[in-house]
Amino acid sequence: MKDLRDYSLLNHNTFGIEAKCSRFLEYASVEEAQQVAAILRQEKAPLLIIGGGSNLLLTKDFEGVVIHSAIKGHEVLTAEDENHVLLRVGSGEEWDGIVALCVERGWQGAENLSLIPGDVGASAVQNIGAYGSEASHIIYKVEAVELATGLVCEIMADECQYGYRQSKFKTEWKNRFLITHVTYCLKKQAGTLNIDYGNIRAELDRRNIKEPTLKELREVIIDIRNEKLPDPKIQGNAGSFFMNPVVSREKFEELLAQYPQMPHYHVDDTHEKIPAGWMIDQCGWKGRSLGAAGVHDRQALVLVNRGGATGADVVKLCEQIRKDVAERFGIQIYPEVNII
Ligand code: EPU
Repeated sequence: MKDLRDYSLLNHNTFGIEAKCSRFLEYASVEEAQQVAAILRQEKAPLLIIGGGSNLLLTKDFEGVVIHSAIKGHEVLTAEDENHVLLRVGSGEEWDGIVALCVERGWQGAENLSLIPGDVGASAVQNIGAYGSEASHIIYKVEAVELATGLVCEIMADECQYGYRQSKFKTEWKNRFLITHVTYCLKKQAGTLNIDYGNIRAELDRRNIKEPTLKELREVIIDIRNEKLPDPKIQGNAGSFFMNPVVSREKFEELLAQYPQMPHYHVDDTHEKIPAGWMIDQCGWKGRSLGAAGVHDRQALVLVNRGGATGADVVKLCEQIRKDVAERFGIQIYPEVNII
């Protein structure tokens, strides 16, 4: 187990922001997670559990304990039915490595989530999503150590209350568990792939691909993401900074009358989702900066560190954008990123 004091989190947040924590504990096995739990029962300091730090904005030093999983490895388990395979993965594995592995073996279910930054543990907390898919569609169960008791728990997916970028781990169960493993359920034989979302089909057409293989779909998604989203290794960022707001049908129709070109996603009979990136773009923010924090020039949903930005700089930009969107569209948008 790693136990470090006064530790810099610079390499643990993709925004590339310098901030320290009082203590940093990293577990590399279930037993070590139990040791961490025992330490935390003694120490009553504030707690922050992090994954790959790709959804994290640090605004100051963290006077407390930061916990990180370094549990690696994967194993294939036998599924109850012969059409599926269960893949049990250590929570500290990089998510995209798992997508690559599934695609390589011809297992369907993870491919639309290609190139999402972050760790396996976070996939189960954040319910990461993209291109009409989300982690909850393939999560089978989550294994975790309960902090209060040190007990190893098995939590089935249907207990996690998954929703759009939501789970019980973010609400009721916040700071209750240290996730050690996530088991995904994948289709052994690829069937019809989910290519209807956004510009996937257009990009496949451009490449003259009618029925893509898993590998071709993954390649297209990687290319689309690379085209639109900045590489955190080059320019600090946390992917989508805001969630796409869900509005009532009345509100949606009122806006559509005003902006007939407005993109939107159907939620249900009474609700519609409006892309925050589009609204921010309409407000003229795309490519603009406020101090060292800025809005990405190819996707207004992404805030970037233009070099040496502090968390406070990013928060200032975030608040200005929220205000402008609220004034122009009468809609409140909220960060998807966890602001600490
Ligand atoms: N748009 C603009 N200007 C912009 C950005 C977007 O006009 O600057 C328009 C686009 O033309 C499009 C619509 O808004 O019509 C939606 O844009 P896009 O598909 O680029 O993004 P999104 O659907 O809002 C979501 C996820 C992304 C995910 C993509 C692809 C959220 C908050 N974001 O974006 O997730 O990759 O769909 O499925 O749900 C992430 O979470 O880090 C992330 C990147």
